[in-house]
Amino acid sequence: MLQLQNVTFKAPDSKTKDKTLSQKTIVDDVSFTFEPGGFYTITGPNGSGKTSLAKLIMGINELSSGKIMFNGKDISALPINERSNAGVVYGFQHPARFKGTNFRDLLSISAGTDDEDTLARIIARVGVCSMDFLDKPVDGKLSGGEIKKIELATVIARNPKVAIYDEPDTGIDLWTIGPMVDLLKREQKENNTTTIVVSHNKAFLETADTLLLILNGKIAYSGNLKGAIPMLEDLSVCTFSKSCQGENDDRCYR
Ligand SMILES: Nc1ncnc2c1ncn2[C@@H]1O[C@H](COP(=O)(O)OP(=O)(O)O)[C@@H](O)[C@H]1O
Ligand SMILES: [Mg+2]
Repeated sequence: MLQLQNVTFKAPDSKTKDKTLSQKTIVDDVSFTFEPGGFYTITGPNGSGKTSLAKLIMGINELSSGKIMFNGKDISALPINERSNAGVVYGFQHPARFKGTNFRDLLSISAGTDDEDTLARIIARVGVCSMDFLDKPVDGKLSGGEIKKIELATVIARNPKVAIYDEPDTGIDLWTIGPMVDLLKREQKENNTTTIVVSHNKAFLETADTLLLILNGKIAYSGNLKGAIPMLEDLSVCTFSKSCQGENDDRCYR
């Protein structure tokens, strides 16, 4: 069980001259319990704090206040690698590309072995049919969709207890989204993986056991998709507030 208790993340407000004087609250007093083996989809407008929340869970962002408990243990102060060893794994929204490495290198690190059979089983599990793909360089030439598939495979290779995927469908072709949802569902069912997907995609909204809607750093709604629909429709009608002075004005998206 993963519990967020009054989790808050503040960062310097880049708009002020003296950054120490002003801070903005990006994740605002969030409390929520992710049950083992549940499938959760986190959605919400751009800039609402979804990635920041995911990074707090993973320990990439440091909590300003609050606590994160995992299976009864306070992990708030644990560094990323220790959280990862405990079974919490995060797939980045914008995965890094490492010149000079290939998919095989990254997968071997994630799986903890470079044994060919083990790697073959993992890539079959994530629906990559060709062993040749293992030799793909993870550099700037990869397409947006390819890098996301690689990121997803490296998360799954760690056999996570809690897997957090940040917009795994970005850049993915239409034909791959259905199989991707099926894959994450299968991982959830077969390995009882607590699955947390940040996404706006209808397929992920529909497949979640529980949907979380984040607005202005807070959980504005948690529950099934049916209950969220009126709020989601409101969002799609207008995201610009009356005081909005143009698209670079923060208030436009509040
Ligand atoms: N470390 C940081 N310092 C300052 N601002 C940040 C930091 N991280 C995120 N933000 C800002 O917080 C807001 C929420 O970002 P993010 O969590 O990435 O949103 P989402 O994933 O919902 O689109 C954005 O306005 C972003 O620019
Ligand atoms: Mg994001």
